Amino acid sequence: MDRATDLDVGSIAAAEAMRPFGEAGRLALEQVRLRRRALVKHPDGDRLWWTAEALEQSTPRTVALHHSRRYGEATRVLDLGCSVGGDLLCFGDRGLGVDLDEARCLLARVNTGAPVACADVTRLDPRGWVFADPARRVAGRRGFDPSSWSPSLAQALAWDVDALGVKVAPGIDHDALPPELEVEITSLDGDVKEAMLWGGATTRGHRMTATLLPSGAQLHGAGAVAAAGPVGRYLLEPDGAVIRAHLVAEVCIAVDGRLVDPTIAYVTADALTTTPFGRWYEVLDVMPFSLKRLREALRGVGTVAIKKRGTAVEPETLRKQLKLSGSGSATVVLTRVAGAQKALLVQPL
Ligand SMILES: C[S@@+](CC[C@H](N)C(=O)[O-])C[C@H]1O[C@@H](n2cnc3c(N)ncnc32)[C@H](O)[C@@H]1O
Repeated sequence: MDRATDLDVGSIAAAEAMRPFGEAGRLALEQVRLRRRALVKHPDGDRLWWTAEALEQSTPRTVALHHSRRYGEATRVLDLGCSVGGDLLCFGDRGLGVDLDEARCLLARVNTGAPVACADVTRLDPRGWVFADPARRVAGRRGFDPSSWSPSLAQALAWDVDALGVKVAPGIDHDALPPELEVEITSLDGDVKEAMLWGGATTRGHRMTATLLPSGAQLHGAGAVAAAGPVGRYLLEPDGAVIRAHLVAEVCIAVDGRLVDPTIAYVTADALTTTPFGRWYEVLDVMPFSLKRLREALRGVGTVAIKKRGTAVEPETLRKQLKLSGSGSATVVLTRVAGAQKALLVQPL
């Protein structure tokens, strides 16, 4: 490993330098490559052991630290399906991991120093405070059906435990979940990272929560209903966690705004109100969606950012059709306003 650490891992020279070590040399290079990649998600990723798939599945540290705080009162946390320890690390010396995969159990023990048992969690009858991040890949592809996960969602929800946290797909149908569970959707730097279901002692009294990391700003569902109305001077694009948590109406009311359309997650307002829950744009022009009108509006513009919601138009196809040329740049929002397809020329604030 030490010999591979300083090499340019993708280069032929690195492969040549490690050739004398055979398969061990190839694995060392692969590990160095994974460790460098891991730094994006884990500040100490370059001292941990990975497999490519385990790294991809691992919870980013900022997110794992956030949800581990729900276990503040626990003396023991069972991490069922702990993989190489992305979450287990954040439970500190209270953590106890279980995984089906022997190699991952081995790496998790080295990575975390926690006890890790190699077992099938579907055959266990866990007690106490439990965290589970089920494997959601079926034959290498992301599975959206909770009954195809391992453990399945039904199996995890049937555990008779004091406190439960289960990571689920962010697009899960909230309405189909048992009413006593709480749902938290978390984004990191604007990208939706996870949805957690909370039960028992990990609950906080809010059915729906959107959490924005790294700031930690949280928005809770209040059953708000927002009105729709004409596009004003400003447009707010809510954070993905807010949209997935179905809390756009809550943000809309908080910024004294209105929806551009009852079915679309864009908020408009006549004045700016500071909010962590979305990004503001100034609206420069609103026009019916037409290629000719857009070409005219974008004369002299060479670079355009295209945002869309509620339209079948493909940004890349449109970009080609626009045949842009010039030194200017612009942002266009394609969406539905009061039921009609519109193009909004906007400027990020
Ligand atoms: C999505 S990964 C967990 C990632 C982990 N939370 C992290 O941040 O590193 C799911 C893990 O569940 C394990 N797993 C799947 N089915 C299992 C079962 N029936 N029993 C125990 N572990 C299982 C897989 O081997 C995999 O390591």
